[in-house]
Amino acid sequence: MNQYETFLEDILIDENTLRQRIRELGEEISADYQGKQLMLVCILRGGVLFLTDLMRALTLPHTIDFMAVSSYGTGARESSRQVRITLDLQMSVEGRDVLLVEDIIDSGHTIASVLELLRTRNPSSLKVCTLLDKFERREAEVPIDYSGFKIPNKFVFGYGLDLDEYYRNLPFVGVVKPDKYVPPD
Ligand code: IMP
Ligand code: MG
Repeated sequence: MNQYETFLEDILIDENTLRQRIRELGEEISADYQGKQLMLVCILRGGVLFLTDLMRALTLPHTIDFMAVSSYGTGARESSRQVRITLDLQMSVEGRDVLLVEDIIDSGHTIASVLELLRTRNPSSLKVCTLLDKFERREAEVPIDYSGFKIPNKFVFGYGLDLDEYYRNLPFVGVVKPDKYVPPD
């Protein structure tokens, strides 16, 4: 596996900036959910680093649970794309104040499908918190309640986001130099 330095165009969001913004989000969410039954739902796998840092920035008692999804339907059907649940929640969302925690919202199809599904299970409330918002690429309309950073339409990696499943561990969000990145076999 290549070292990331060979294809890192630049660091878009460094470690300190991430830490600071996540602390702010934590304060905002803690204030908004005072006295409520907050349940964080993380969509695997990209949201994991954000989830664990966000949890530590919250001053409210809360529970966590996980979902995994995979998209199907590509090409001409892309704009009506639905996602398939590959791992469902362990806990019931009924009567809970559910906050979805995502790494990035790109076209918006993933989060739109998850919202549609969870709404049928009667949570008390259902909101969205994303670290990154690639707003120029939006196809599905998604209400975003908490957003860390709006980012340009560039492919990014690190801090949970992968390049062919690698490099999720990097402490910053970096931009890929496409002509320098070689996918693994
Ligand atoms: P959406 O359904 O198009 O909004 O896609 C969301 C998912 O695509 C995210 O949860 C990521 O897993 C992935 N994704 C979108 N953009 C990027 C990126 O720039 N880097 C890494 N993963 C991305
Ligand atoms: Mg993801």
